[in-house]
Amino acid sequence: MKVFVLTGAGISAESGIPTFRGINGLWKGHRVEDVATPAAFTKNPELVHEFYNERRRQFLQKNIQPNAAHFALAEFEKTHADDFLLVTQNIDPLHFTAGSRNVLPMHGQLLEARCTVTGKVVPWTNDLSVRTADPENPHRIGNLRPNVVWFGEMPLGVQRIQEAVQNADLFLAIGTSAVVYPAAGLVEQTPANCKRVEINLEETPKSDAFTETIRGRASIEVPKFLSRLQA
Ligand code: OAD
Repeated sequence: MKVFVLTGAGISAESGIPTFRGINGLWKGHRVEDVATPAAFTKNPELVHEFYNERRRQFLQKNIQPNAAHFALAEFEKTHADDFLLVTQNIDPLHFTAGSRNVLPMHGQLLEARCTVTGKVVPWTNDLSVRTADPENPHRIGNLRPNVVWFGEMPLGVQRIQEAVQNADLFLAIGTSAVVYPAAGLVEQTPANCKRVEINLEETPKSDAFTETIRGRASIEVPKFLSRLQA
């Protein structure tokens, strides 16, 4: 069975990371969509850095840990390693912390920085600013950006994602609002005979495209669903 899992912010909500569209969706009066763009970074890089610095610091807090849903996926993968792909829209590291291996973070990872000149990606846990010197090339200042995908940029690994989704026997979407493309459209690219399961607190605009919808918290419903699958 070829398993394709797509996760969104809802899987990390119970770990203490707020979802994007959950609360009021604003950050210091800015819409997230207005901060997370290449144009915003060109116009006001300090503002964009500040936005991500806050999030990075939060990810590094000791109390931010994977929950039962992340762990259940990592356990499940151990018995399906060859036919398992976990595509996450999340920029937090919790799938990795939980022990998942075949993870494709399609919107990048915030605990990484990317050089805007060379494209080189390095692990990164400090704040970034326009004054940050590149440790690889210390005379270069302000060339590092968070290694995350902004609105208007191409998600990572799109070709691999397409191939995997078109061959999936099980497509499992967990905690994603299904409004941001291309992730939102993946369910419609699965083969006709694919089992399509959505786990979410609420209905989403794509719920009708699934063969089974489970309403509830990821930390409860994901372990339950995966153990039912293995029984
Ligand atoms: P959203 O914040 O849009 O949606 C979170 C979803 O999780 C909602 O549908 C909630 O109902 C659901 N949810 C919340 N808590 C849950 C829980 N405990 N158990 C199950 N479901 C729960 O987050 P995403 O769909 O991930 O992109 O957002 C997609 C993209 O939009 C993000 O990757 C980011 C954002 O702007 C970029 O930054 C490029």
